Amino acid sequence: MSRIAYVNGLYVPHAEASVHVEDRGFQFADGVYEVCEVRRGLIVDLTRHLDRLDRSLRELRMVAPMARGPLTFVIREVLRRNRVREGIFYLQVTRGAARRDHFFPAADTVPTLVVTAKSTDPAIMAKKYANGIKVITLAENRWDRVDIKSVGLLPNVLAKQQARDAGAQDAIYIDSTGMVLEGASSNVWIVAADGTLVTRPAEHGILRGITRTTLLDVAKRIGVTSVERDFTTEELLTAREVFFTSATGSCVPIVEVDGRTIANGHPGTISAALRDAFFEIAEKTPI
Ligand code: PDD
Repeated sequence: MSRIAYVNGLYVPHAEASVHVEDRGFQFADGVYEVCEVRRGLIVDLTRHLDRLDRSLRELRMVAPMARGPLTFVIREVLRRNRVREGIFYLQVTRGAARRDHFFPAADTVPTLVVTAKSTDPAIMAKKYANGIKVITLAENRWDRVDIKSVGLLPNVLAKQQARDAGAQDAIYIDSTGMVLEGASSNVWIVAADGTLVTRPAEHGILRGITRTTLLDVAKRIGVTSVERDFTTEELLTAREVFFTSATGSCVPIVEVDGRTIANGHPGTISAALRDAFFEIAEKTPI
């Protein structure tokens, strides 16, 4: 079955889907995006993802390509046409196509909207959950507005590749004072020595992950004490558990940081319990 993409009003074969050469997303990374999980034929946390999309657009003074009702229809249609039961959809909005000029284009420039979807193999994630992953730490080198889910991801791309080159799977950003920020495409959590679940506040310096927000709900529901506070690289290295959250991986255990083994080197029980309860508690929208 061939994949289908939605591009500016049309459902087109994925291989032929394209945007204009002067699209501002292409020329200036002048766009925002969302990635949302689909599990058992249900879209996970759609409302929160669309709320964050609205916020990203607002922060960049960009126009929404369409109202939420039609946008939800397009997302569901792309998932249906690609027969995705387990996977993700990807949605990107840019400031549109216009003659190259750094200034915002004319107010009537139509935003570009692209929605794609793909199936993923749950067995690959299951392996990560069972074994955990290795990460490296890196000094923060991104812009100050990482709270906006912008498509300007060059530092993140370089961070991921640097991790791979070092024999690890991912990277964690550390700020100039040694505090842990977030992963290259995920939020970071620790289970501290006293058993408390800790994640950094999302007011500044990180993306407010949707999985992160829902996981705080999950922790409350299953009786795990959680706190949003800054934590140091030393706390990261000596934590009882370390894990990532993101729409592409719910809770992924981290068993090694910069070559140092975390706890006993095996995924922890608290992140597993949170992951097990996550789907039940998250909002689920039928395709
Ligand atoms: N990334 N922090 C960063 C920098 C991210 O890119 C992401 C998500 C997150 C987690 O957010 P959420 O829980 O809403 O997925 C945190 C997506 C998955 C990506 O770029 O593919």
